[in-house]
Amino acid sequence: MKSYNNLLFDVTDGIGTLTINRPKSLNALNSETLAEIGEALAEIKDNADVKVLVITGSGEKAFVAGADISQMVSMNSLGAAALSELAHNSFKTIESLPQITIAAVNGYCLGGGFELANSCDIRVASSKAKFGQPEVGLGIVPGFGGTQRLTRLVGRGKAKEIIATGAQITAQEAQSIGAVEEVVEPDQLMDKALEIAKAIMKNGPVAVRMAKYVIDKGADLDLNTAISFETQMWAQTFATKDQKEGMQAFLEKRHAKFSGE
Ligand code: HXC
Repeated sequence: MKSYNNLLFDVTDGIGTLTINRPKSLNALNSETLAEIGEALAEIKDNADVKVLVITGSGEKAFVAGADISQMVSMNSLGAAALSELAHNSFKTIESLPQITIAAVNGYCLGGGFELANSCDIRVASSKAKFGQPEVGLGIVPGFGGTQRLTRLVGRGKAKEIIATGAQITAQEAQSIGAVEEVVEPDQLMDKALEIAKAIMKNGPVAVRMAKYVIDKGADLDLNTAISFETQMWAQTFATKDQKEGMQAFLEKRHAKFSGE
């Protein structure tokens, strides 16, 4: 992996950790960081050593406190559209990764930070994390997917309440509305993310990849089309070595040794 100005990356035992690393600005996303996220993900996509990806923020205080306001303050509409598109490209790349992604939310998760977390497959939060879409207080609307992904996660009413008030909510509240899957004590955050990653890695890699794909593709389809699509994906898993191994291992009362084929 090449080195980045605003990101750290590590792979240990099949788990990649991508850290947004601008702690002095609470990891605010400027255009350079957004572009670097896109580039790093393109590398991670093809990196067979990365089975699961964890995304987190540097320092104690913030996951990501939003898009970089000092960069946006003098921006015109053209610049804003370009920034939004840059973020959309990077965040869509997160969703299209074959690996499951886990946001480990270690602190403030605001604006573009919440939008980044909502592009991941699973969100684990420190009990001290705070979530919100404060954009209307700056005179703008969320522009990195917040009006859409948050709405799909929590429903229109809650999304409108969060976005229109701009108020911060606690990790516990975020969990109660389905915007966060797990809440743990701050010092347990990475352990919890790694525990989930390891549980995922025990399973058939092709099946996990396909499950992510069919869930995401199906979410944009009507139910009848979506369940037909599920049938196709399900049938395809029977053409894999992993299916033979998984079922044979069950019948032989042993742990499966998946090859990912
Ligand atoms: C640039 C930021 C920043 C941001 C914090 N900082 N958030 N810089 N962009 N989004 C900087 C501060 O200016 C400060 O720099 C340093 O980080 C520490 O922040 P403080 O404000 O001093 O910390 P604290 O008082 O603890 O308050 C924490 C905070 C607050 C509540 C998270 O920083 C805050 O409200 N930040 C902005 C949150 C926000 O509005 N995010 C949404 C952005 S819009 P100095 O140099 O003074 O030490 C967005 C839109 C996306 O995300 C879509 C656009 C197309």
